[in-house]
Amino acid sequence: MEFNGKTCVVSGAGGGIAFALCEQYAKDGANVVLLDVNEEAIIENAKKVEAFGGKALAIKTDLTSVAEIKTAMEKVEKTFGAVHVIANCAGISLYNDMLEYTEENWDLSLDLNLKAAFFLSQEGAKNMVKNKVKNGKIVSISSQAGVVGEPGGHAYGASKAGVRMMTQTMALDLAKYGICCTAIAPGCTNTEMIRAYFKRACVLEGMTAEEFEKMRTEEIPLGRLAEPEEIANLMYFLSSDKANYITGCTIDITGGVVNV
Ligand SMILES: NC(=O)c1ccc[n+]([C@@H]2O[C@H](COP(=O)([O-])OP(=O)(O)OC[C@H]3O[C@@H](n4cnc5c(N)ncnc54)[C@H](O)[C@@H]3O)[C@@H](O)[C@H]2O)c1
Repeated sequence: MEFNGKTCVVSGAGGGIAFALCEQYAKDGANVVLLDVNEEAIIENAKKVEAFGGKALAIKTDLTSVAEIKTAMEKVEKTFGAVHVIANCAGISLYNDMLEYTEENWDLSLDLNLKAAFFLSQEGAKNMVKNKVKNGKIVSISSQAGVVGEPGGHAYGASKAGVRMMTQTMALDLAKYGICCTAIAPGCTNTEMIRAYFKRACVLEGMTAEEFEKMRTEEIPLGRLAEPEEIANLMYFLSSDKANYITGCTIDITGGVVNV
């Protein structure tokens, strides 16, 4: 019961990986805060969190707005007081050919995948410092696409490479408060996002989505996509007290794509 009574704020909690993480916190009896722009999804997921044994607070938040992040975190403090974990999971992958890449998609990718993760972490860290939280944790999701170039992944790859460096610099600034900052970099994981990615990116390779998925799967040494629970397992560990001496690093979890 690593997280019993602790408050864990999970962004993108309407989505696949984030909800798998919420489930693990909830089974420990945590206070789970679900942030997402998709209100219907977090209301449904909040009910599941309560059924698993956690306390849930769902707050509809467009994380591309720093003002909305601040308002959400004020509600969190009023409801639960101290925050122990920030899990930055919200993200969007908008792939397209470089010659056609739009400013709108560039801005949305960077605003959600990078800027939102920074400002949610900032609000979380302010809460932890104010409430003298011991061994606070900030865990963010980068991506394999932040180290390996992928056709069409300009803004996505740049934002996820940014998460790696942001994690290092936040870790430096927050070490004096005992707050650990880490990131994980998953490869292809079986969620809504990867289905959307296969549909968009296959066009750039002149393939069908099925052919493209087959090609990408064959590139993975372990020969299959990750399941969201497998990615959540690593985030759960990094946000637990078992990881109190791990900070500043990004851990690849790609079935061997990056490391083998
Ligand atoms: N699925 C993969 O293959 C994969 C691989 C590497 C990294 N990642 C990263 O993992 C994280 C989770 O991805 P997932 O696969 O679970 O995706 P998902 O699409 O299931 O979940 C993403 C969530 O983010 C939410 N979101 C989108 N825009 C938002 C906004 N403006 N404000 C608040 N919430 C918003 C969506 O509503 C959704 O619930 C993302 O950061 C993604 O980039 C995923």
